[in-house]
Amino acid sequence: MNETSIEELPGIGPATAEKLKDAGFNSVEAIAVASPAELAGTAEIGESTATKIIAAARKSADVGGFETGDAILERRKDVGRLKLGCEEVDLMMGGGFETQAITEVYGEFGCGKTQIAHQLAVNVQLPVDMGGLNGSAVMIDTENTFRPDRIEQMVNGLSDRHGMDYDPEEFLRHIHVARAYNSNHQILLTDTASELANSLIDTDKPVRLLIVDSLTAHFRAEYVGRGTLADRQQKLNKHLHAIMRFADLNNAMVLVTNQVMSKPDAFFGDPTKPIGGHILGHTSTFRIYLRKSKGDKRVAKLVDSPNLPDGEALFTVTPGGLVDD
Ligand code: GTP
Ligand code: MG
Repeated sequence: MNETSIEELPGIGPATAEKLKDAGFNSVEAIAVASPAELAGTAEIGESTATKIIAAARKSADVGGFETGDAILERRKDVGRLKLGCEEVDLMMGGGFETQAITEVYGEFGCGKTQIAHQLAVNVQLPVDMGGLNGSAVMIDTENTFRPDRIEQMVNGLSDRHGMDYDPEEFLRHIHVARAYNSNHQILLTDTASELANSLIDTDKPVRLLIVDSLTAHFRAEYVGRGTLADRQQKLNKHLHAIMRFADLNNAMVLVTNQVMSKPDAFFGDPTKPIGGHILGHTSTFRIYLRKSKGDKRVAKLVDSPNLPDGEALFTVTPGGLVDD
């Protein structure tokens, strides 16, 4: 983990540091992946100075280099699997949702995206042999839909199913929730989440799950009209890269949710296509299309994955949480 502050980089005085921070470049990593022109414009410095600062940041943050295949294989050995606790879904995901990856769940309102988020925030805390990752959860809540009482119900449901006596308060203590008020705030909260993860890294519950629910709602509301689509995609793309980095650095599972329209939407074209379009499609590693079935039954369909066959899985939303159909 990188503890260097941006003031320690050569060429950054207090005034420059201030300007960079105001523009959101508040970590060495953020500077390391910036372009010289971007940095020069933001901090009112020359491009050659900016280039030097970026080079120093890259060295310090250890980003941006090539990795050999065996090093990647070594890192992949640490990939954990977080189980939803619904057998068909977990099987479809190859034994659970992978860490070091982004999983996007998209579907209509009320299809259960937020329910999955709640269930994973509970399950991640379980020991590995119970399908968890023995970790904490961080949730960026953009729609104010986090419900602590729903967590309680789910923990009690797990106690029943596992024949255990889990303490809901203990689970709530390891779920860190922040409300994001707009897309900029949402982006900033990703940095805050990294800081939080750093501070918990040597505890008995390091952060192993990051949830962004909803990834796209603010962007959708703020960028209206065709002319702004490119801007929106670019910003969303950057945001997703920061999120991917979080997944890698913390060996965390990342769940992002994305709503699709049930009715055609003049601004966003094809109603069956998730908001965010292609860029989101390329960045998220696993994509699940979720839809309602009869009553509380839900169908999860894996539509995109680097290493798993496409498939469908059924589960049910019950008062005690998500369970097998
Ligand atoms: P949007 O955020 O609006 O796009 O929807 P979403 O996909 O996040 O839906 P959400 O996860 O909020 O699912 C809502 C649905 O879950 C409800 O319509 C109920 O069917 C079900 N649900 C939510 N809470 C409970 C509960 O406590 N018990 C049961 N049995 N079902 C619940
Ligand atoms: Mg929701």
